[in-house]
Parts: sequence; C-alpha cells; structure tokens
Amino acid sequence: MVPMFLFIMGFCTLVPGSYALHLSKPVLQGPSHAPEKSIIEYFCEVPDKPENLTILYELFTENNKDRPTGEYTSTHSEKANFPLKTKLSYEGPIVCKASGFNNSDIVPAYSNSIDFRIFYPVSEAIISSPEELWEGQDLILVCNITAGTHVSYNWRINNVAVGVPYDRTVNTLTIKNVAVHDAGNYTCEASNRFNETETFTSQSNAKDIVVKEYLSKPEISFSIVKDETITAQVTCQSFKGTPPINFTLYNDSVVLSRETTDSLKHTFSVAISLNQYMGTVHCHVSNEGNEAQSQPLRLEVVSVGGAVTMRREVDMASNFQVVGLKLFCKVDRGTLPQYYWYFNGNRLDERGTFYAVAWPDHSLLLLSVSPESSGVYHCEAGNKFENTSIVRSVKLPISKDELNRVPTKVVVTIFTCFSLLVAAVTACCFYGVIYRRRLSSSEYILDEAATEMDRLHEGDAETDSMTSDECNEVEEEDYLEDEDVVIEAKMDDSDQSYVESVEELISIVQELLKSTEPEKDSTSEP
Ligand SMILES: *[C@@H]1O[C@H](CO)[C@@H](O)[C@H](O)[C@H]1NC(C)=O
Ligand SMILES: *[C@@H]1O[C@H](CO)[C@@H](O)[C@H](O)[C@H]1NC(C)=O
Ligand SMILES: *[C@@H]1O[C@H](CO)[C@@H](O)[C@H](O)[C@H]1NC(C)=O
Ligand SMILES: *[C@@H]1O[C@H](CO)[C@@H](O)[C@H](O)[C@H]1NC(C)=O
Ligand SMILES: *[C@@H]1O[C@H](CO)[C@@H](O)[C@H](O)[C@H]1NC(C)=O
Ligand SMILES: *[C@@H]1O[C@H](CO)[C@@H](O)[C@H](O)[C@H]1NC(C)=O
Ligand SMILES: *[C@@H]1O[C@H](CO)[C@@H](O)[C@H](O)[C@H]1NC(C)=O
Ligand SMILES: *[C@@H]1O[C@H](CO)[C@@H](O)[C@H](O)[C@H]1NC(C)=O
Repeated sequence: MVPMFLFIMGFCTLVPGSYALHLSKPVLQGPSHAPEKSIIEYFCEVPDKPENLTILYELFTENNKDRPTGEYTSTHSEKANFPLKTKLSYEGPIVCKASGFNNSDIVPAYSNSIDFRIFYPVSEAIISSPEELWEGQDLILVCNITAGTHVSYNWRINNVAVGVPYDRTVNTLTIKNVAVHDAGNYTCEASNRFNETETFTSQSNAKDIVVKEYLSKPEISFSIVKDETITAQVTCQSFKGTPPINFTLYNDSVVLSRETTDSLKHTFSVAISLNQYMGTVHCHVSNEGNEAQSQPLRLEVVSVGGAVTMRREVDMASNFQVVGLKLFCKVDRGTLPQYYWYFNGNRLDERGTFYAVAWPDHSLLLLSVSPESSGVYHCEAGNKFENTSIVRSVKLPISKDELNRVPTKVVVTIFTCFSLLVAAVTACCFYGVIYRRRLSSSEYILDEAATEMDRLHEGDAETDSMTSDECNEVEEEDYLEDEDVVIEAKMDDSDQSYVESVEELISIVQELLKSTEPEKDSTSEP
C-alpha cells in the first residue's frame, strides 16, 4: 500500500511541463505514536524555498489519500503546522505535500513519511485457561490484557520459553494434543514498544495447567503370604492414569472387593487353599476419564512336588576347554517355586567368587569352571512362601578335569570308526593283490588300455547319434574304470621296480587319454 501511494505521488510530479519550478523535498516532523484522542502536532517545511512564494501544505494519511487531513497556506515562509486529535484511522504512514498556492507552474513535492501508531502501554496481563484438561485434547491459553496496542506476546512454561512455535502477535497459545509433559506453570508476557526508549511489559499470573491421564490396561499378578492361613496378595497395577482410581476385584462377575485410592497400584488379599482351583479373577480400574480391565488370572496355587532335575549347558573357550557352566534346576510341580543351590552341602548365596545365582526364582546357577569350583552340586526346590515342603535333586559332581576329559562314548565311537576304516583299506589291498596276479604283465595292461582306446574310438562313431550328455556319461564311466584299475595296481605294490613301471604305464595311459580328449570334446558338441 505505502509504495503504491508513493509511486502514484511520484508519477504526478512528472506530469507538469519542463518550464515548471521544482520545490525541494519538504521535511515533516512529528510524533510516531500517541494515545487515542490526544492532541498532537506535525510540522512541515520546504527548505531553501524561493522568497515571496505562497505555498500550500497538505497532510495526508494512509487511510484517506484523496482528501487531506490538514491544510496550511504559508505566505511568509513560515513552517506549516497541523494540530490533530488522534484517531485509530490515522495509523499508518503520514506524508506532507507542498505545492504552489494557486500556482500550477510549481511542481508539487512530497515529504518523508512518518509511521504513526495509536499507542497504549500494555497493562495487566491475565491468563485464562480451561479448568481441566485430558491428554489428547487441545490446550488453548489466552493472555488477556486490559490495555495495550501493538502488543507482542511471549509464553513461558516453568520459566522456560514454550517449545511449540506460536504467533507472537495474537494473544492465544494453542498446544494441540496435549500430553503429561505439557503440564506445568504457564506465564505470558505482553509487551509493546514504540521507540528505542519506551518499552512496556506486563507479566501475567502463573497458571498451573494439569493434564489428566487416562488409565492404562492394568496388569494383574499375585503372591502368597502364609501365616495361620494362606492368603493370595492379588496386585492390580496401571502404569498411568490420574487418581483417584477405583479398583475392583472380580471373581468372574462377582465383586470380591472394591477400593478407591490415590495410587496406581492396589493389592487385594484373598484367602485361598493350596492345591485347589479358587476361581478366575480379574481387576477393573476406573477414574474420571475412562475404565479398563485386566487379563483374567487363574487363582490356583500348587505346592512344589515331584522330582527336581538338573540340566547343564557348557561354555567353551576357543581351545574347546570348558570354561563355564550353566546349571538349571526344575521341579515337576509347583506354581511358585523357589530354588536353592548347594555346593558340597553348603547353601550358596546370590553371588560368590566363582558362581552367581540368577533369575528371579534362582532356577539358574552360572559357574566359572576352575579348580576352585570343583565339588558336588545339588539344588532344592521349595515354595516361595514357606520353608517346609522342600524337594531335593541328585548330587552332581563337577570338576574342571572331569569336564575336559574326552567322554568314553566319544572314544568308543572314534575307535570304531577308525577300525572300520582300517578294515576297509585292508580289504581293498587284498582285492588289488588278487587282481594284479590276474594280470600277467604290465604290457597286458598297456594292451588292454590300447584296445580300450580303440573301442572308445569305435564307440565315437556309434555315439554320434547319442545326445551329448549320454555320450559324456559313457566315456566318463569307461575312463574312471581304467583309472581305478591302474591306481589299485599302484597302491598295493611295494616293489620299487614295479612301481616305476606302473608309473610309466600311468603316464602312457594318461597321454593316450589326453590325445582322445579333443575328439571327446568335439563329439560332445554336435
Ligand atoms: C519580496 O517582496 C518584497 C516586498 O514586497 C520585495 O521588497 C522583495 O524584493 C521581494 N523579493 C523577491 C526576491 O522578489
Ligand atoms: C486563486 O486564483 C483564482 C483565479 O486564478 C482566484 O479566483 C482565486 O480567488 C484565487 N484564490 C485565492 C485564495 O487567492
Ligand atoms: C478478557 O478480559 C475481558 C475483560 O476483563 C473479558 O471480558 C474477557 O472475557 C476476557 N477474555 C477471556 C478469554 O477471558
Ligand atoms: C506455579 O507458580 C506459582 C507462582 O510462581 C507458584 O506459586 C506455584 O507453586 C507454581 N506451581 C507449580 C506447580 O510449580
Ligand atoms: C520515545 O517516545 C517518547 C514519548 O512519545 C518520547 O518522549 C521520547 O523522546 C522518545 N524517544 C526516542 C528515542 O525517540
Ligand atoms: C470364585 O468363585 C468360585 C465359583 O463360585 C468359587 O468356587 C471360588 O471359591 C471363588 N473364589 C474366591 C477367591 O472367592
Ligand atoms: C468410584 O467409586 C465410588 C464409590 O463406589 C463412586 O461413587 C465413584 O463414582 C467411582 N468413581 C469412578 C471414577 O469410577
Ligand atoms: C526360611 O528359613 C530361613 C532359615 O533357614 C528363615 O530365615 C526364613 O525366614 C524362612 N522363610 C520363611 C518364608 O519361612
């Protein structure tokens, strides 16, 4: 708007003829801000203006560009002055225009502009907010001021600038989808500033915003307490939710107990008998926002009984030495078993130099295998809630050497395998010897090989009609047969000269085979 206004004014100055008289740019002076309905004054003057020239000064505001807000005719070179009673409509750039009075030969000139604002210092910021808020809702806070114009707002939570981005020119702060971490002490600071020295600030009251939470689905669990009677302590716990919370324990659909508390957890005492099904219970929670229900819980406590078994798992080092052991203890029956570990008949604590008892019920013992840890281990199982019914496992001796000795079973297996291997090799040798005796001389083998080659060559012609795969198969089988014979013959003889002749023979046969190889390739590619 302002540039357009100035542009039009500038354009107008170009219209008159070149013989016209140009005035210097007038200087406008006056306040940039004032309260509404107050009297202010602007002054306008053309510097170095020609003497004896009557000048018409006009004052224009942004909202009324067509009609001057003030007029002044200067006949004696005096400054123009414009007294004004401030109005909201005067806000914006104010400009003074100078022109020749009844003299169109003088080109009008426009002054600097002064940005005028109606000004009220801010006062009394007060936050208004909803009374209560549930998670997921939108929080809208209003910073209400009793007075103030051109105000900028700053919001703080617990004395720290609010994290979410917001518009500082409006008095509301909106936080969408609030969560518990948005709760806190909110304050707003309203301020306005009109020049370098005058800044006004108003600090609001602190508003404590509480975000209420819906209850999460409760977890149900129980433990047993035994004194004269046996009691199940059924605990119902939600992980979030704003108190007060109503807890109700149901046996199917029958209410067993009801309680209103300020905590997220409540424990009900239910008298029970051991080794007897006492029904299926669940708990129900509710607060002002919602209600939720736990999983059902079968109320049956079986006392420990049956056999106690131990199982072990080994940890090996890279050299296959057993360096660690995990012992697991398990009792056949028992809803709430508690395990105890013994070393050479002494009860083990939670942790020692070479062991650690782990898992909530101590059913696992971790052992570092060392000379120190050699001894006899056993475990016992009892009920968590009493000491009387104890069941004992068998005793397990453990020593480092024992663990690293190769087990007899493995020795037997390896020995058997080895024996079988020796037997097989011996059988092969005998077979080779007998076979060799059947061959009169090494020449026979050569002849045999040569005829075999011939047969192969003849076979080539026949196998031309075969598919390449069939062809390869036939040749390969024949080839392997020959080699077997030769190798067996070589294997079973210790006679040096014979070995030499056989080696010679092998090389001859191999050469022969090589010479057939290119042909073989060509036949396999029809
Ligand atoms: C202005 O007017 C006065 C009196 O009328 C005269 O004496 C003077 O010379 C004029 N000055 C100019 C620059 O015309
Ligand atoms: C302006 O000039 C016109 C004639 O050109 C005349 O009628 C009028 O009265 C003058 N106005 C003033 C204020 O002197
Ligand atoms: C702000 O204050 C005014 C006057 O005190 C009141 O009328 C108005 O309702 C308030 N606004 C809010 C959002 O509280
Ligand atoms: C919020 O601030 C007020 C004033 O500083 C203080 O009285 C109040 O205890 C604070 N509330 C919380 C929750 O910090
Ligand atoms: C700011 O405005 C006030 C009142 O209008 C005035 O008294 C003061 O001199 C101004 N300060 C500056 C630096 O402009
Ligand atoms: C739950 O109800 C069953 C069936 O009515 C009943 O046998 C059982 O004793 C009840 N359990 C408790 C803990 O009251
Ligand atoms: C909690 O229980 C009481 C009494 O049984 C009842 O008046 C109240 O409305 C309940 N509140 C909720 C949040 O369920
Ligand atoms: C179990 O027996 C130990 C002593 O061996 C005793 O200190 C402990 O209180 C008993 N625990 C229970 C639940 O009876």
